[in-house]
Amino acid sequence: TFRQRLLVVANRLPVSAVRKGEDAWSLEISAGGLVSALLGVKEFEAKWIGWAGVNVPDEIGQKALTKALAEKRCIPVFLDEEIVHQYYNGYCNNILWPLFHYLGLPQEDRLATTRSFQSQFEAYEKANQMFADVVNKHYEEGDVVWCHDYHLMFLPKCLKKHNKNMKVGWFLHTPFPSSEIHRTLPSRSELLHSVLAADLVGFHTYDYARHFVSACTRILGLEGTPYGVEYQGKLTRVAAFPIGIDSERFIRALDLPPVQDHIRELQERFKGRKVMLGVDRLDMIKGIPQKILAFEKFLEEDAYWRDKVVLLQIAVPTRTDVPEYQKLTSQVHEIVGRINGRFGTLTTVPIHHLDRSLDFHQLCALYAVTDVALVTSLRDGMNLVSYEYVACQEKKKGVLILSEFAGAAQSLGAGAILVNPWNITEVAAAIARALKMPSAEREKRHKHNFLHVKSHTAQEWAGTFVSELNDTVIEAQLRT
Ligand code: UDP
Ligand code: G6P
Repeated sequence: TFRQRLLVVANRLPVSAVRKGEDAWSLEISAGGLVSALLGVKEFEAKWIGWAGVNVPDEIGQKALTKALAEKRCIPVFLDEEIVHQYYNGYCNNILWPLFHYLGLPQEDRLATTRSFQSQFEAYEKANQMFADVVNKHYEEGDVVWCHDYHLMFLPKCLKKHNKNMKVGWFLHTPFPSSEIHRTLPSRSELLHSVLAADLVGFHTYDYARHFVSACTRILGLEGTPYGVEYQGKLTRVAAFPIGIDSERFIRALDLPPVQDHIRELQERFKGRKVMLGVDRLDMIKGIPQKILAFEKFLEEDAYWRDKVVLLQIAVPTRTDVPEYQKLTSQVHEIVGRINGRFGTLTTVPIHHLDRSLDFHQLCALYAVTDVALVTSLRDGMNLVSYEYVACQEKKKGVLILSEFAGAAQSLGAGAILVNPWNITEVAAAIARALKMPSAEREKRHKHNFLHVKSHTAQEWAGTFVSELNDTVIEAQLRT
């Protein structure tokens, strides 16, 4: 059978490389929602193009890594240290990421950020051109090229300049903010223009798509229609494609012996206590301090629960070269230490905080034994952790407490308890409610969300995006 060839281009490859010798590499699965969703995409003849997360200055190393990655259908883009510093740490993670999540620019070094803006933006353009060069080298006629995320907003333009017939889609995994926020970016117009060079532009929710279209109408003065934006005599199609997960992969995993073993261990370990769970990259958008403070407030108000509940917070280290992330790490450690000192006993503490990633089996076991999951993102494109939790809860039917500022609130809102993470009184009350919720209500809420998670998969998401992209290109040809 014919499988459409697909080039997936993202800053982060699904595997990150660790050097083991002059020409020896080991590959580890990368963390984050973009990678886990795209790993669920199977019906295409797909190749990945991206950065392996490591600096490889020498030719021997580059050759060996290229070969190792080829077995995983991955093609590396080599970025040197200076580019990574300015493009990835600087422009992507210190400017675009906080801005798209409504956190503004970093407070303390706002002026330094303003001064370095131009050079970081130039590095961003340069890095995007490096991705384009690799795509052009591997592109074959008829391929669909699917660019991902805020790292690669310049890529559609670079690709179309080289070959205007290339089918190019671009998808954003973060929120797209209100045009009033986007307006503050010095490079606001350049970024919009280059994204508009794509044939199809996709977002997780209708709101993000609407924000993008109004940024194009207000900032560029273009005409927006219900289908997209009129741009240089053609229509750039803009639409919402809510992502999902490979739910069967999680459901199947629960029956595997190693997962069953982990489940038994955890049940034994926390016998007699309710288990609450947070799983996040250690990122300021996840509202981890807010979550922990709400948990403290809950313990403060309800002495009964103090030795009967535990919060397990998995905080996966991320972007550790960016100062804002380093600050967050010590802030979280300080709060956790204070609360454990306050409510801990000689034998137990209320918060178990882990600064590391888990393997897939451990993660599934944790999801399965948990009574309440807490997702308190201040903003989040979608949040797949909430989907994964629901997928693993067919037995237990635990409660999901979910921030109304996560994209997932629009799909799992009816089954979850929705909260404003900034309001710790409200979150503390939601914790109390979740822990006491009668089983009939838990079952009803779980069922609602489980049906959604099972029927809106990553495979379906990718299939819909790519067929929409194919259709868009055909329609454009008919229009001319
Ligand atoms: N995850 C991971 N390693 C871990 C814990 C979690 O890779 O140790 C995965 C998790 O399964 C989920 C993803 O990281 O698929 C997080 O995605 P989400 O959309 O919730 O947030 P993001 O990290 O993309 O902001
Ligand atoms: C989010 C972004 C992804 C990114 C991931 C992990 O999910 O949308 O593009 O890959 O975070 O972050 P990192 O900077 O390690 O790739």
